[in-house]
Amino acid sequence: MSELSRRVAQAICAARKTVALTGAGISAESGIPTFRDPGGLWDRYDPEEYATIEAFRRNPAKVWQMMKDFTALKTARPNPAHIGLAQLEHMGLLHCIITQNVDNLHQAAGSRNVIEFHGNMRQVICQRCGTVLPLDEISLDTLPPYCKCGGVFKPAGVFFGEPIPPQALTRAYEAARTCDLMLVIGTSAVVYPAADIPVVAKQAGAQVIEINPECTDLTGRISDLIIQDKAGVVIPQILAAINAMAS
Ligand code: OAD
Repeated sequence: MSELSRRVAQAICAARKTVALTGAGISAESGIPTFRDPGGLWDRYDPEEYATIEAFRRNPAKVWQMMKDFTALKTARPNPAHIGLAQLEHMGLLHCIITQNVDNLHQAAGSRNVIEFHGNMRQVICQRCGTVLPLDEISLDTLPPYCKCGGVFKPAGVFFGEPIPPQALTRAYEAARTCDLMLVIGTSAVVYPAADIPVVAKQAGAQVIEINPECTDLTGRISDLIIQDKAGVVIPQILAAINAMAS
């Protein structure tokens, strides 16, 4: 086990309130491609054509077809990083997770206090009357899917150009302002306002620790420490160190 993982374990045990901010990297070991790594989603799909609200309004069928093709989301299972964070919450050592992911893997791993900053893709929302339905309850045989009112359904994830769900925004900033330790796991921290969350935590006096094989815009500027390895390796190590300290 690395010395750094042991240091993070000690920091978690000493903290009054630990919050995690997660991004696509935490789900990489579940087989879901990230956005910006080589071979990532934005190499295959131009975000201007698929991920903006204008693109959706222009051609909802095209965006829905991409969603339908993206079957990895449906078959993916939580990996040791998701499971480790859920265990930390159950042990009373993690207050909440703010996630930019829309894959539901934190909840599938057993985490209960999850703030979905970019919405989720398990639901759809009618663009005319606002009806929200589980994705499983609508047919995708003909695209785009329509609501009974005649409006087009949109996946309930946040598209570029759309606001962050207000409740998630409020809860995330409140968690950032009041924690004294923030773990930033698997995010390149380039998409705002999510990338501001560690900055808010830092300005409020929190220690910020990154877990990411690569350095990010936060490294050396906002984060106090980075463990440069995969989340699925590091988080189980941290848990093992905590358990060893307890026994
Ligand atoms: P990115 O694809 O921008 O960044 C993924 C990060 O995960 C990179 O910094 C990688 O180095 C890191 N990474 C890769 N494998 C990892 C592993 N096994 N363990 C830990 N870290 C690993 O994804 P996000 O930062 O999540 O928004 O992207 C933010 C937002 O951009 C997304 O929520 C999405 C996207 O456009 C919207 O669609 C609104």
